[in-house]
Amino acid sequence: MTQKIRLLYFSRATRDMTLSDMKDILTAARTNNTELGICGMLCYSNRYFLQALEGDRKEVCELYLHIADDPRHDELEMISFEYIDKPIFTDWKMGYASSSPLFDKLLAHMELTEFLPEKIKPRHALALLHNLSAHQDEI
Ligand SMILES: Cc1cc2nc3c(=O)[nH]c(=O)nc-3n(C[C@H](O)[C@H](O)[C@H](O)COP(=O)(O)O)c2cc1C
Repeated sequence: MTQKIRLLYFSRATRDMTLSDMKDILTAARTNNTELGICGMLCYSNRYFLQALEGDRKEVCELYLHIADDPRHDELEMISFEYIDKPIFTDWKMGYASSSPLFDKLLAHMELTEFLPEKIKPRHALALLHNLSAHQDEI
């Protein structure tokens, strides 16, 4: 039986990402993730990425290693790796959100004035992505 997992990590962009950079990442992600049966959510702000990947264990682990090799980011840190009964980001092959008033409000709830993923607890990181998934940037 294939086991489903959710993996969360954050990383540092190696340069400022433009809208066009994000489009490139998301276009590739959405095409590949559809084939791999992977869904998830990505956010980018303050030169940090935070991403959730959900799907079959083998596919998610391989994809994570592939993404980790991408020169557009470095300093990857895994936040959590958990077995799940059901994915929660099923509507998005890769959802996306960036800075917004809602983002700032959610950060303020965590007593942060800027997006610093290393300061966010794992369960708050998942809640942040889940909240943002309902208010995505359309790219
Ligand atoms: C922060 C970040 C998140 C990414 N997320 C995904 C993803 O979810 N799925 C994916 O296939 N590629 C993702 N990519 C892009 C991959 O690193 C890679 O460029 C893409 O899969 C194309 O790989 P290929 O050129 O070997 O076909 C991401 C890249 C970055 C920088």
